[in-house]
Amino acid sequence: MSEVGLRKTTLAAVRDLRPRKRLNPLILAMVLAAGGTAKTTSTTILGTILALRGYIVRIFDLDPQCNTSEILGRREEHKDPEQKTVWDLIQGLCTLDEATVQARYRTGYDEEGEPLFTEIPNLYLVHGDSQLTDTDTLLANKPQKFNWFYNLTGLYAKGELAAHEREVWLLDLPANYGKLTLSTLIALTEDDEVIPPLLVTGKESGALEKLLRTLLEMQREFSGDMAPASPTVKNVLLCSTPTSSHNAQEYHDTVAEVERDYPGMVLPYVRHSGVTAKQYRRQVTPPISDPKSAPSVDYEKVADALGFPDLEPAA
Ligand SMILES: Nc1ncnc2c1ncn2[C@@H]1O[C@H](COP(=O)(O)OP(=O)(O)OP(=O)(O)O)[C@@H](O)[C@H]1O
Ligand SMILES: [Mg+2]
Repeated sequence: MSEVGLRKTTLAAVRDLRPRKRLNPLILAMVLAAGGTAKTTSTTILGTILALRGYIVRIFDLDPQCNTSEILGRREEHKDPEQKTVWDLIQGLCTLDEATVQARYRTGYDEEGEPLFTEIPNLYLVHGDSQLTDTDTLLANKPQKFNWFYNLTGLYAKGELAAHEREVWLLDLPANYGKLTLSTLIALTEDDEVIPPLLVTGKESGALEKLLRTLLEMQREFSGDMAPASPTVKNVLLCSTPTSSHNAQEYHDTVAEVERDYPGMVLPYVRHSGVTAKQYRRQVTPPISDPKSAPSVDYEKVADALGFPDLEPAA
């Protein structure tokens, strides 16, 4: 672990969940236009940890792959046909709560082979939808819908929706800066955070620069409009960092490069671990299935560093 990581872990300030008297929940968005960089892994594991710590967490599954929904016990095949999703929400066909379901984890199977689930307290999911592939077309044809997410935050400002005082939103976004991604990022203020997870085993360190450029362009393009459009990167999340059994030189080089280029911004490392991959198949996140595993322990440190202490410490 780097000194930077340690410093952040031990000195992290407790985060103000409602800075500047805002009324809508604080937003953490996992964003990086590179496939397979641990956006979904980070969203689901961090979301579970925050929920177990007593925060009320609402995760928006904004990727048409619906991986977050799948991991949180909400595969498309298990969906009640009447259940609204984020796709309905974008179109204005339902309320936020109507598109929200309780996150769950799979505990086994019944005699007919149907999966059995247990709900995760405090963890809610704005249900994913594979039709999100059509969002860019929808937003091109109906430009007023581009404000769907900003309008949603505005309902809190207008008092039409009231957030729980411990409520936090996490966004799992697709690996591109298309209209869907931009339509959510325009609602972010400088108090919110865009967190880019970077898998050090990948080749995407240049993707971070591209993200920062895109956010700057976005701020310029939308400045003067009503929406805050101030998405900011304050922390970078390095995932799959080297361990004694997984330690190719290039992984170390990537870590060193990111530490050099983003000094003071690197969160505690999330080490390489085979446990993360299992959550897709098992439909249960490591903090529930394997609380002592490396991903659980490492994301706990990330939660500390981001300023989310345990609100319900064990007696
Ligand atoms: N700390 C880690 N150690 C080892 N493997 C990891 C780690 N974090 C993530 N992975 C693996 O990397 C792969 C990609 O992760 P994930 O699906 O979270 O990425 P993503 O950014 O959401 O991808 P996409 O762009 O497709 O949405 C998965 O197989 C996941 O299990
Ligand atoms: Mg994903």
